[in-house]
Amino acid sequence: MLTKKHNFGAGPCILPDSVLTRASEAVKHWDRADLSILEISHRSTEFELVVRETEFLVRELLDVPETYSILFLQGGASMQFAMVPMNFLGTGQKAAYLEAGFFGEKAIKEARISGDVTVVATSKDTHYRSIPREYNIPADAAYFHTTSNNTIEGTEMFNFPKSPVPVVCDMSSDIFSRVINISDFDLIYAGAQKNMGPAGMTLVIVKNSFLDGIKNPVHAILDYRVYRANGSMYNTPPVFAIYTAMLNLQWLKSKGGVKFIHMANLAKAQLLYDEIDNNPLFYGLAEKTDRSLMNVTFRMYDKEKEEEFLSYAAGRGMVGIKGYRTIGGFRASLYNALPLESVQALVDCMKTYIFKTKQNLVQV
Ligand SMILES: Cc1ncc(COP(=O)(O)O)c(C=O)c1O
Repeated sequence: MLTKKHNFGAGPCILPDSVLTRASEAVKHWDRADLSILEISHRSTEFELVVRETEFLVRELLDVPETYSILFLQGGASMQFAMVPMNFLGTGQKAAYLEAGFFGEKAIKEARISGDVTVVATSKDTHYRSIPREYNIPADAAYFHTTSNNTIEGTEMFNFPKSPVPVVCDMSSDIFSRVINISDFDLIYAGAQKNMGPAGMTLVIVKNSFLDGIKNPVHAILDYRVYRANGSMYNTPPVFAIYTAMLNLQWLKSKGGVKFIHMANLAKAQLLYDEIDNNPLFYGLAEKTDRSLMNVTFRMYDKEKEEEFLSYAAGRGMVGIKGYRTIGGFRASLYNALPLESVQALVDCMKTYIFKTKQNLVQV
């Protein structure tokens, strides 16, 4: 029997039990190669097939047009903060960024090393509780960069602006959680360690014509075109991370794909937000219209009680609900593999904690 606590971790995070079982079996002995998955050559036919199947699953699950390449890189989403401007922000050009969270802010900082950046709008002055709506994207920018889900602050972008320039999106924390129209984007990147698989692999989906327009000289290891030309095997790829991502995407497909998981994600988020809104001890941090389905941020009116609630919840098997260090309070991440039962267990905890508090008051 595998596990388990109720894992609300923001990433690395919960993976389905069946995926963990198959991945751990392959560490011991992977039938296809008659070796451990950790020992096989990345140049073997067996592993080549894993990479191609993982690519195929990404294409199928997200309905990626043939005019886009699917690449597997390393370095996390943070390396993309640097790679995007290194490849696409040429000398004398500027890029447009929407600043709606801590990770968007980091991306801007990296882009400024390569060239000029115009921040089209920011919600920093309100602690990133919402996603700015009114802004213009300059038509002479090399690209427009945004973040679809702000993992730390718990906001999600449900509508993307019409952009006169190529759109680049960091989808690290909501990729595969809902249907997206890939054609609205020119480059999407995501660290794998939320809805795709274990840490160590980064997914990039990029329009070929956008890549063909690169004029900057870029070191091979940081050049998207090199990954495309080498089928993501310019150097040794993260073999185990790609293999486990393949298993996880097979799991997602077997569940009915992204449309189905989105319905399940809506139900989980609704259950938790309803409790936050109805429980007199808690309140939500994000603007209601921008509330993330993946990362739910909330606090207690009585901040002194937050540590106590954390221990109370930990005693009932909840893991990973402490809010990000700069924000405090709580953050419950409801990624694809988290079952509704875990959300119900957290909601029950919030309800029984009130009861406990009332009892204490009576005893006093
Ligand atoms: C939206 C977003 N962007 C970027 C990052 C940084 O990712 P990595 O740690 O893979 O570099 C994270 C990490 O949680 C994230 O949630």
